Amino acid sequence: MVFLAAGVLLAAAAAVAVWIGNSRSRMEKSEILKIGVLIYKEDDTFVSGIVEEMKRQFKDDEREKGSRIRMDFAYAEENQSIQNEQIDKYLSLDYDVLCVNLVDRTEAAIVIEKAKAADVPVVFFNREPVAEDLQQWDRLYYVGSDAKESGTLEGLLVVDFYKKYPEKLDKNQDGVIQYVLLEGESRHQDSLIRTEYSVQTLVDAGISLERLDGGIANWVRSQAEALTTQWLKEYGSEIELIISNNDDMALGAIDAVENWHVKFSNIVGIDGTPEGLAAVESQKMIGTIVAGQEDYARVILDLAERMARREALDGLDIREDKSIRIPMYSVNCDGKIRRLEEEGKEEN
Ligand code: GAL
Repeated sequence: MVFLAAGVLLAAAAAVAVWIGNSRSRMEKSEILKIGVLIYKEDDTFVSGIVEEMKRQFKDDEREKGSRIRMDFAYAEENQSIQNEQIDKYLSLDYDVLCVNLVDRTEAAIVIEKAKAADVPVVFFNREPVAEDLQQWDRLYYVGSDAKESGTLEGLLVVDFYKKYPEKLDKNQDGVIQYVLLEGESRHQDSLIRTEYSVQTLVDAGISLERLDGGIANWVRSQAEALTTQWLKEYGSEIELIISNNDDMALGAIDAVENWHVKFSNIVGIDGTPEGLAAVESQKMIGTIVAGQEDYARVILDLAERMARREALDGLDIREDKSIRIPMYSVNCDGKIRRLEEEGKEEN
């Protein structure tokens, strides 16, 4: 019995020694903090904007604080298996924290399992894991914009435009707005929710709508151009409004309209990319929603660094669902800016 108890104690002491050893070696290694950033694909305009900002802020930070951090990027060619392999590689190279822009947001569990086994925290961003997955471990967070808020703001852009220029929107004066809708990836939280709330906001404002058509263009400008061209052939001047889930697809719609040689600018987008904002300024679009890429980058880096260093997360606006939402605002073709929180309309 005594031997057994002593054996148990020895085993426990050995386990503690291994644990201390592990954390010590992690701390020694963490002289240089290693951040691995994993992106779903290379040529997504909005996500690339966030990545460029992360690189820029990281450089500024290095100059200012002389901080010893290393940040590396891996692109997954829209393939979750490739991203999982990239995660394995970063973990085997003792990275201190991972920032993950998932390929498939329903496949977060496997990423979480790997990170947890290696005790490496994860900041997911832009492609939101399902709620239960985020609850699996305390060293997981999500940074993203609120899809409901962006959809609502997009709807309000149209409501305001209609109030100011009813004849420009309801071209045939039948009291109904005939519209088409460009959707992002089918399984992306932003496509489903933005679509729902942009349309619902118009309905709530008492605007009668008729959906002529809609289709998935996967956030991609050329795919949106192809779809819009098809609709222009089919519906011609019946189309009074093009609602797009993002700016790149709105720009694709503008390309189609310009190729078709028609004058049409009743198009709304979301993201506030430089090209999107330029199109709004030059009156080719009614407006867009700016989800600040600078803010995105700052919050991701701050959270990643603090988690890697096991520092407190005070002062970060973390919601109960373990997410940090990036504030956003709309900009319209008259240069007017609108924010929901200032109007007390933010419900979350
Ligand atoms: C959305 C954004 C799209 C695209 C997508 C990628 O939030 O509006 O333009 O970047 O994320 O996940």
